[in-house]
Parts: sequence; structure tokens; C-alpha cells
Amino acid sequence: MSSSLATVAYIGATILFILSLGGLSNQSTALRGNLYGMVGMTIAVLATVFGPQVTAAGLPWIIGAMLIGGAIGLYAARTVQMTQMPELVALMHSMVGLAAILVGVATFIDPEASKGFEGAAKSIHEMEIYVGIFIGAVTFAGSVVAFGKLSGRIGGNPMLLPGRHWMNLAGLLVVIWFGREFMNAHSIADGMTPLIIMTVVALLFGVHMVMAIGGADMPVVVSMLNSYSGWAAAATGFMLSNDLLIVVGALVGSSGAILSYIMCNAMNRSFISVIAGGFGTTSAKPTAAAGGAQPVGEVTPVTALETAELLREAKSVIIVPGYGMAVAQAQHTVYEITKHLREKGVNVRFGIHPVAGRMPGHMNVLLAEAKVPYDIVFEMDELNDDFPSTDVTMVIGANDIVNPSAQDDPGSPIAGMPVLEVWKSKTSIVMKRSMASGYAGVDNPLFYKENNRMLFGDAKKMLDEVLTALRA
Ligand code: TAP
Repeated sequence: MSSSLATVAYIGATILFILSLGGLSNQSTALRGNLYGMVGMTIAVLATVFGPQVTAAGLPWIIGAMLIGGAIGLYAARTVQMTQMPELVALMHSMVGLAAILVGVATFIDPEASKGFEGAAKSIHEMEIYVGIFIGAVTFAGSVVAFGKLSGRIGGNPMLLPGRHWMNLAGLLVVIWFGREFMNAHSIADGMTPLIIMTVVALLFGVHMVMAIGGADMPVVVSMLNSYSGWAAAATGFMLSNDLLIVVGALVGSSGAILSYIMCNAMNRSFISVIAGGFGTTSAKPTAAAGGAQPVGEVTPVTALETAELLREAKSVIIVPGYGMAVAQAQHTVYEITKHLREKGVNVRFGIHPVAGRMPGHMNVLLAEAKVPYDIVFEMDELNDDFPSTDVTMVIGANDIVNPSAQDDPGSPIAGMPVLEVWKSKTSIVMKRSMASGYAGVDNPLFYKENNRMLFGDAKKMLDEVLTALRA
């Protein structure tokens, strides 16, 4: 393929990626957005593999690597559970970081790659390598630790070393100092030592940064690492002089940063305090899961039959899904119940919290999969004022996102996090298996409210019973 044809293909792919991001911003266009992304990526890969930068001798290697990588990707995509998606995403981010390190080192030690760079251009080229490897190493190490935390292999508690901010600052100064040494090096061998020292410091920094972040802030970390992986890809693009990689990396980097900002707002956290770490360490109450949380009152259990009765008498119903709906895979039964109630003239709507579940858009994906119409799915802000006029709110496997102590208890680890005010509806029904706490590990006073009912059991099983009772 000629270089001008490759450039045209790259421009086409760039446009498709931008259209893809635009499509993904709305549920009704998300499918099309995904399609644009897939077509764009196919064009990009073909234009790169058959482009002018790849020699005939390199082709079998590239195709072999693509087959192995593609097979692993296909296997992972087919077998991974929806609840394991965040850890898979973290693992993929680590691959982008690792690729940036390897490309950086390969570019540095390949005399061909730096041919033709003189004076200022040479300095800029070396700077690209140094910064690219730095971002790649932070992304790689941080993502591996995030994977460990999300999959439960590493504990969720933040690791707070004494003087950790000073340690980070010292690490940054070391990186800057050795950057100078690297730029002044006269040979590849001379430059290798500062490069290795910086890489080790960056890896330690990545580990330290994510280890210091508490479990409740992990959603922001995942999207932040998503942003880092974009910048790492952009840095790789600079090293390889590949315009498409620079543009796509910048798109991923900036959209990840915007998503992190939106999620920080949704959790009432400042981005800097998330990165600084330590959330939930001093004021956290003992978790119910750890057997520490004490009941603060009596709960009123209900049966599936009574739940069906309450739903049958309601004129307006709001359904609030959470992580438990994903675990139970109850979305299809939720849809059947919704369909049944709507046929009976009940106004059924869904209230989605921005951090419900375990990844951005988790609930929207599940509801879309179950074919719940988009026009009855609302964001938290669009629905919060409607709870007082709602007859029944069904909370399906959600906990933290409906916890009133976020508003009432300034000492709570989730204080200030915006929540769905389900307790304001005439009756709320919480479906979960036990009195265990949610992700943030705090007790939930909603369970003990006078107008709240608890429907204990696996969400799928209980909803099946509710559906049977409704149809009877
Ligand atoms: P959680 O607060 O984690 O609560 C989920 C509840 O579901 C649990 O209390 C659990 O209670 C119940 N549950 C689990 N399996 C169930 C099943 N099979 N049937 C019925 N119930 C089941 O979830 P949430 O309300 O969706 O809040 C999300 C939390 O995760 C927030 O703290 C958020 O910050 C955090 N987080 C979010 C993300 C993103 S990006 N969305 C990523 C990581 C973390 P039982 O054990 O008693 O059943």
C-alpha cells in the first residue's frame, strides 16, 4: 500500500473513531457507535499492516502475533462475566502501558529509528521516548495493581505509607534529574542507565499510586488508567511517527479524563483527593460483610407475593438496579415485569446512578441487553425529584447508591456522594440476599425505614416469583 493511500485510510479511520465516540454518548446510538469503532479499527489495522512502514520480512511476525493476540482476546471476550469486566479492562490498560515501554526501548536501541534526527529534533525524539516510557510504566504498574484489587487478589484497603506524598515528590525529582542525564548521554549504552532507573521509579510510582487508593474510589481509578493508557498510546504514536496512534491516543486520553471528572462529581470526590488516596480509612465504619456493622433497627421483610401485590396496586413505579442485578443476571426478568406492568397501565421508569454496578454504564448495558426501552431509563438527576410522587420503588441489588447516610451522616465514608432518594417514595422495596453491606462497606439506614420493605433472596429467583405472582 502506498503511503498516500495509508494516509487516506488513517484519516478515514480517525473520522470513524470520532463518530464512534459520538455514538457511544447515547444509548440509542451506542450500537452504531460500536460499529463505527469496529470498522475504523479494521481499516487502521489493515492500513498499518500493509502500509509502507512494514517490510515483507516483518509481515509473518505481525500476522502471527495478531493471530495469537486475537485468539486470546476472543477467548476472554466470550468467557468473561459481565461482573469481571472492570478487571479485564484494567488488564487491557496494562497491555497498552507495556506496549509503550517496549516500543520506547526498541526505538531507543534501534539506530535506524533515530537516523536523521539532529539538534533540536534529536532532543525532541529522545524526550518522546523518555516521557513515553514513563507514562507506559506508570500505566502498566498501576493497571496491574488495579487488576489485583478489582479481582480481590489484593486487598481493597488503601496502603498509606508514612510521608507518601514526599516519596512521590522525591520520585518525580529523580525522574526529572535522570531525564537530564538521559538527554545528555552520548551513546545508547550511556542512556540506558538513566532510562532503566526512571522506568523502575515509574513502576514503583504506579504501584504506590494505586495501592494508596481505597476500594470505594476504584471506579475513578479504572477510568483514570483508561485515560493514562490513551496518553501512553499517543506517546507510542510519537515514537513511531504514527499520526493515527497519536490522534486515537489523545481521544482515549481526553475522554477517559472527562469520564474520571464526571465520576468524581457523581461520588462527590475531588480528583486530586482520589489520586492522593486514603479514602475511607479514618472514618470508615466497620463493614457488615466483615461482621462489624450493627443493625440500627428492625427491618420489615416481605414475600414475593406481597411485592407483586404492592406493584399491582401502584400507578407509578421506579426501578433502581445495582450490582446485585448484574450478579444475579436478573435483567431479563426485570424486563418481563416492566412489560407486564406497562401493559396494565403502570408508569414504570428506571433510575440509574452514574456509579451503579462495577463499571461506567454497567446498568445501561444490562438493560439494553434485556431490550428495556431507552425512553424509560433515566439518570439520577432526572428522577430524584420524582420519588415523593412514586408509589413503589424497587431497589434490585443496589446498596451504596441508595444510602441516605450519604446525605445525613457527615462522618460516613460516602458522605456527600449524590444518591437516589428512594426513601422519599411511598414504599420502597429492597431486594438483596442478606443484610450485608455494599461495595463501600457501610451499613444502610434505608433498610430500617418505616416505609421500606426487604425482599430477601437472589434477585433473579425472587423476581421470577414476583413475575409468576403478577401473572397469576
Ligand atoms: P453495592 O453497593 O455494591 O451493593 C450491591 C448489593 O447487591 C449488595 O449489598 C449485595 O447484598 C447485593 N447482591 C449481590 N448479589 C446479589 C444477588 N445475586 N441477588 C440480590 N442481591 C445481590 O452496589 P451499588 O449500589 O450498585 O453501588 C455500586 C458501588 O460500587 C458503589 O460504592 C461504587 O462506588 C462502587 N463501584 C462502582 C464502579 C462503577 S464504575 N460503577 C466500579 C467499582 C466500584 P447481599 O450480599 O446481601 O445480596
